[in-house]
Amino acid sequence: MPDRYAVIGNPIAHSKSPAIHAAFAEQTGQDIRYGRLLGDRDDFAGDVRRFFAEGGLGLNVTVPFKEEAWALADERSPRAEIAGAVNTLIRLDATRIRGDNTDGVGLVRDLGINHGFDFRARSVLLLGAGGASRGVLLPLLESGLARLRIANRTAAKAEDLAALGAAFGPVEGCGLDQLEGERFDLIINATSAGLSDAVPAIPETCLAPGGWTYDMLYGDVPTAFCRWGAAHQAARALDGLGMLVEQAAESFHLWRGIRPKTATVIKGLRRPG
Ligand code: ATR
Repeated sequence: MPDRYAVIGNPIAHSKSPAIHAAFAEQTGQDIRYGRLLGDRDDFAGDVRRFFAEGGLGLNVTVPFKEEAWALADERSPRAEIAGAVNTLIRLDATRIRGDNTDGVGLVRDLGINHGFDFRARSVLLLGAGGASRGVLLPLLESGLARLRIANRTAAKAEDLAALGAAFGPVEGCGLDQLEGERFDLIINATSAGLSDAVPAIPETCLAPGGWTYDMLYGDVPTAFCRWGAAHQAARALDGLGMLVEQAAESFHLWRGIRPKTATVIKGLRRPG
């Protein structure tokens, strides 16, 4: 019997995680089965307990259950602790489950390893102060960057998130309307504005010459923020598909102790159809 894993969310039909983990398993010769679970919005904890009681070894958790997964984990990694959200559950023994969050390391590895962005001495702007931003905060602060600014439409949320991160690195929060005259080497979009094909309202001159943009969203066509980057002469305007695959690779590593290669998997997902 193959070892069992799954992704749980609601909705879940369009998740790419089963295809990604199937590719990792084939590449590394691991005998696993990775399924898709539609979580019950009223009984997520019950779904998780059942999955593990029936012998499952690990779950990926996606919208809208990441905070609930954080709450039900019996122990958590430091990066999950700060994130306030868990995207990976690991069976420890018959009664205990560990929660981790691989989103931030996925972002940092996609930028740093796949694309060669050198975080050292760079100033980075993180747009948004919701779950997506909080989820990547600690790995970003540990990337070696010189300065992180969190900017949000609602300034107080950015200030609160910056206060949470301040013990771990150089971070400040502000409103989107307080960026005038500032320059950043990398701008990361972690807002949900792109879901309605919009971009956060930031000054035209925010991106330093030679700077990069990164949208945590991805799509079959360039996202609104990728288009903003291209229109503002970004040296690279990247979307979040690489982050998706890298966070999956980190989960796979946590479960199986093997780090799969990601380049061909990312390329495969890029191909239309
Ligand atoms: P997620 O889990 O995707 O981060 P969230 O917690 O609802 O979702 O947070 C959404 C983020 O996108 C917030 O930072 C939100 O800004 P506010 O806190 O001011 O609401 C931001 N956001 C959404 N639509 C936006 C828009 N059109 N322009 C700028 N920011 C936007």
